[in-house]
Amino acid sequence: MNRLAPSVLSADFSKLGDEVRAIEEAGAQLIHVDVMDGHFVPNISFGPGVMKSILGKTGLSFDVHLMIERPDQYIEEFVTERTEFITVHAEACTHLHRTLQLIKSFGIKAGVALNPATPLNLLDYLLEDLDQVLIMSVNPGFGGQKFIPSAMDKVNSLKKLKDARNLRLEIGIDGGVTLDNVKAVIDAGVNIVVAGSAVFGAPDINRRVKEFLRFF
Ligand code: DX5
Ligand code: ZN
Repeated sequence: MNRLAPSVLSADFSKLGDEVRAIEEAGAQLIHVDVMDGHFVPNISFGPGVMKSILGKTGLSFDVHLMIERPDQYIEEFVTERTEFITVHAEACTHLHRTLQLIKSFGIKAGVALNPATPLNLLDYLLEDLDQVLIMSVNPGFGGQKFIPSAMDKVNSLKKLKDARNLRLEIGIDGGVTLDNVKAVIDAGVNIVVAGSAVFGAPDINRRVKEFLRFF
């Protein structure tokens, strides 16, 4: 199943509840939650309190993307009845396997995100343990950046591995996804499509979500 995960990083925080309701009503299937600490990435977004504040506003599940150093210290705070994935950055984890086990110990699906410069083979010995690999198609930190084309090569390689090894993991892509390139990423094997500015920056959010979903 292909799913659209709008990133609330690009939402209007002063009316976050209304904006998540709008994407849910339009048919989006997940909410992508971008957590930034000002250390791992050069920006600060929000923490678990803000995420929990939208629990009562939507029935959608959370796809939590932790762009933070020492994620093990904070993982438990993002565990809610609606948290489907917690994804950490390979570059931020010294003991990545241990971190994944920690996420799973809470009954949450575990994901790993790879920055554009990080090779896929870093995950060779972990692929069987993963529920999602999130391919970053921008350098994380900000919404509204341009899609880095080499991310497509990484998606293609991951899709080949997924098929060859019969892996159950989901393939996510994050950064610079628009109506112009969403078909290409889905065709390449992505099934969780993150889109921030292309959704929340649109004049009509409801309509934009539906435009995206036509490609699913
Ligand atoms: C990048 C974040 C993304 C970002 C996506 O640091 O992880 O989720 O907000 O935003 P767009 O779709 O605008 O690139
Ligand atoms: Zn993200």
